[in-house]
Amino acid sequence: MSPSKRTSSRTSTSPKHSFSVRRARAADREAILEMSKHIWGGHDYMPLVWDRWLAEKKGALLTVTVDGRAVGTSKVSLLAPGEVWLEGLRLHPDYHGQGLSKRIHRATFREAEKLDPRTVRYSTWIGNEASRRIAEKNGFWQIARTGWLWGKVGRRSPVRGRRAAAGDLDTVVRFVHGSSCYEATNGVAGVGWTFPELTRRRIKHLLSLGRVIVFPRRGAFRAVAMFDIGKIDDDVCLGFIDGPDDDVTLLAKDLLRIAAETGRKEASAMVPMGRIADLVHAAGFDEWQPVRAVVYELGARGFSGRNEPFEDVLSRTLRSNESDVLDLIADLLMERAPVALAKENVRDFITRNFIPDTDRQLVGSTEGFFLALRTDTLRSILRGVIEHFHLRHGLAGNALTATDRVVRVTHRGKRLATVRARAASLHLTLGPGFGPCFPPDLKVRASETRFHEKTLDRASGCYGSLTLVLTEKSHIKGATRAIDIIMKSAAARR
Ligand SMILES: CC(C)(COP(=O)(O)OP(=O)(O)OC[C@H]1O[C@@H](n2cnc3c(N)ncnc32)[C@H](O)[C@@H]1OP(=O)(O)O)[C@@H](O)C(=O)NCCC(=O)NCCS
Repeated sequence: MSPSKRTSSRTSTSPKHSFSVRRARAADREAILEMSKHIWGGHDYMPLVWDRWLAEKKGALLTVTVDGRAVGTSKVSLLAPGEVWLEGLRLHPDYHGQGLSKRIHRATFREAEKLDPRTVRYSTWIGNEASRRIAEKNGFWQIARTGWLWGKVGRRSPVRGRRAAAGDLDTVVRFVHGSSCYEATNGVAGVGWTFPELTRRRIKHLLSLGRVIVFPRRGAFRAVAMFDIGKIDDDVCLGFIDGPDDDVTLLAKDLLRIAAETGRKEASAMVPMGRIADLVHAAGFDEWQPVRAVVYELGARGFSGRNEPFEDVLSRTLRSNESDVLDLIADLLMERAPVALAKENVRDFITRNFIPDTDRQLVGSTEGFFLALRTDTLRSILRGVIEHFHLRHGLAGNALTATDRVVRVTHRGKRLATVRARAASLHLTLGPGFGPCFPPDLKVRASETRFHEKTLDRASGCYGSLTLVLTEKSHIKGATRAIDIIMKSAAARR
């Protein structure tokens, strides 16, 4: 999913047009390559890969048709078992902007699922708005930002590092997996615009092909570089490099020498932006400024909770630590600002610009309910309960909705709590749906505790839901304790 090294009129796909996505056939070739002439100003790499993609046994090459006319493609590839790679998404410009990508994506996904994926990834140019929007809408997360660089090879001269031998494998794997380059790319390494995982298996494979270079030649090595041959441009592509600055520079120059040895005139690099890309650029990969790539992965890595989306976990964590986050960013900005700044103003700036003002949202969303309450005591109780949901458990924003009659709190897509107003009391109902967590002998401060009989779990003797009747400020403590109990039970059930 990249620009190759080498951007009408509109046709509406109204219901009277028939749209389909099916397996590609050899007969699609001409129409697809014709379509490809209209992509990226004629610089699409599709002509270089279509035949090979069609012949591939694993994965699937798809053709998009409108009224039987082949107008687009999508490719599902398998880089290693469980490692699915998406590429080749194309649509004739006549059909852009009509929301068709959603339908192509659905069909692509059906093919991806057949490959029993552990991970699904793809990459795109940082400026490809449509492609990035598609990623965001479909639950993909950025795992790496890299720069694509090209350098002209110099005259032939000896390589300064040495090719790693089979006996180096363990040391190389330890080096790679502990390196900042590996961390910056979340464990993938580019070969062209494809980013396979740098597993031990892959490192071993590259090593066996003589594509792992270490430095110095003798003794323990301080720096490692790895390259592979790109399938599209047939280029020597540097995908991993790390070590002290001078050694990185030396190994990057080695890569240009290695490319020269093979008779190539250029070499490429796909490396993380920042220190590594700067060093590689300065070492001679300087034909142009890095073209920036984003690597996307479906789902967020490192997160195993199945019920609650990663985004919700993060925003809840942010909300429950908002004050600390504000302080940290404010301190950092004040330390680096060229003039002295007042902390309150800096915090206010951050809130206005970067962090949603949850307090304002909170007050705003419950205002009607709050004002409809008859006494100050009830208002204080409500404030205590809501603040506890927000400050202790990070529940606010979308998790909290209110009308004049009821406040509802949801957690992981399910109703967690409701607060209803009576003339002289608030009724806080917690659960059900988060486990039988309330023991029948539970003592919490409240004017009344009503267990919901239907939620009794016979095995444990506990209830999954209760209502607390709150009439005094001291009942805030009872309410917060009951909330903590249900939140703990919810966390344990993840
Ligand atoms: C990528 C491509 C297939 C998308 O097809 P499409 O039918 O035009 O996409 P859609 O109309 O379904 O739009 C997808 C989303 O991107 C948005 N989008 C599309 N073009 C956009 C642009 N130029 N700027 C900002 N957003 C854009 C759409 O608004 C839509 O988001 P929304 O649903 O929130 O409104 C098509 O643009 C294409 O063939 N591009 C050239 C090849 C390419 O770049 N392939 C991807 C390589 S990684």
